Amino acid sequence: MKLATLAMAVGLLPLVAGAPTAKPIILRNLAAPRYFGAAANTTFLFNDKNYTEVISTQVAVKWENIEPEPNGFDFGPADEIVRFAESVGAQMRGHNFMWGNQLPPWVNTSLTATELDKALENHITAIMDHYRGKIYAWDVINEMISDNTPNETFKDNIWTQKFGEEAMPKALAYARAVDKQPKLYINDYGIESINSKSDTLYDVVSGFLADGVPIDAIGFQCHFTLGQIPTDLEANLQRFAALGLDVAVTELDINLRGPANATALAQQARDYWSVVHACVNTRRCVSVSVWGVSDDHSWIPNGEVLPWDAEKQPKPAFYAIADAFEGKPRP
Ligand SMILES: *[C@@H]1O[C@H](CO)[C@@H](O)[C@H](O)[C@H]1NC(C)=O
Ligand SMILES: *[C@@H]1O[C@H](CO)[C@@H](O)[C@H](O)[C@H]1NC(C)=O
Ligand SMILES: *[C@@H]1O[C@H](CO)[C@@H](O)[C@H](O)[C@H]1NC(C)=O
Ligand SMILES: *[C@@H]1O[C@H](CO)[C@@H](O)[C@H](O)[C@H]1NC(C)=O
Ligand SMILES: *[C@@H]1O[C@H](CO)[C@@H](O)[C@H](O)[C@H]1NC(C)=O
Repeated sequence: MKLATLAMAVGLLPLVAGAPTAKPIILRNLAAPRYFGAAANTTFLFNDKNYTEVISTQVAVKWENIEPEPNGFDFGPADEIVRFAESVGAQMRGHNFMWGNQLPPWVNTSLTATELDKALENHITAIMDHYRGKIYAWDVINEMISDNTPNETFKDNIWTQKFGEEAMPKALAYARAVDKQPKLYINDYGIESINSKSDTLYDVVSGFLADGVPIDAIGFQCHFTLGQIPTDLEANLQRFAALGLDVAVTELDINLRGPANATALAQQARDYWSVVHACVNTRRCVSVSVWGVSDDHSWIPNGEVLPWDAEKQPKPAFYAIADAFEGKPRP
């Protein structure tokens, strides 16, 4: 997200399911050496006990306006989630620095390119400094590739208006200059298949690598609709990995577009399995993160998109994720 919002996905959290007598299924253990994570939502993390339990067990927190005014940073809510993650032994991803949406009002077109450049550097430096040693991966860039490829390469937003094709390299270079440890990601949607948009990203990133722009990994959001997992997801992950990059599934959810029934839940389970399987089959795929935890707190209302239902009970998708990490066949 943006200059103003930061959301974090916490990985490595134990997600337990199963009858008291059965051996508990702990996704974070099954995923190793990969991470299994979830975006934690601060609105509920400290208010819905069952949600918190699944998370401690698992998370998705998002806080708005970390920099509501120029140089006025509010780290409070973000610090809470970081403390929480540490308390449950979770790895954290940070999200994000450069996005065309959800910008605070003071970041607008009235700034000159020089002023915006300074604001960007300042923002990245202050936040990465604050969380030094606590975040293993940053989505430095979010959703910058155009939806009108190949005619247009980058989205038309304040960053590309002011910096042109230098926008992404600037943010990545500022991030690397602050801290060499975290993996630096470009995160996007619509790039999960081999298609015009992912081809464009592939070319952009190849150019970055040739030019020495610091980039470590690509995040594939993976917001899917039921029954529509691209069959070439794995081949696509592998072609980016072959460039020498890590890849990750960063915002996975699968939309039923209607109330759950047994048929739809079984298909959703197969779909989750397919995505996790594609990651497991790709050596440099480092993590799978779901975008939320339970269906009642998803960003997509009434889509029944997640592996836990509104009562925080594991759905068939949960068991399918476990199967995929364990190398078991598609359910
Ligand atoms: C929390 O879980 C318990 C046990 O499953 C259930 O009885 C209770 O209704 C849940 N609370 C909420 C707020 O969902
Ligand atoms: C645009 O940014 C300038 C400089 O930060 C600020 O003074 C102005 O109020 C902003 N405009 C809007 C509409 O928020
Ligand atoms: C790209 O531009 C060509 C020529 O102007 C046009 O025919 C085509 O529809 C455009 N494609 C997209 C995806 O906008
Ligand atoms: C089950 O749910 C799916 C997805 O919402 C829907 O398309 C399908 O018609 C439903 N089937 C039944 C038997 O209700
Ligand atoms: C967090 O919860 C709020 C309120 O339900 C919702 O609007 C928002 O989209 C959620 N964020 C994420 C990342 O799921």
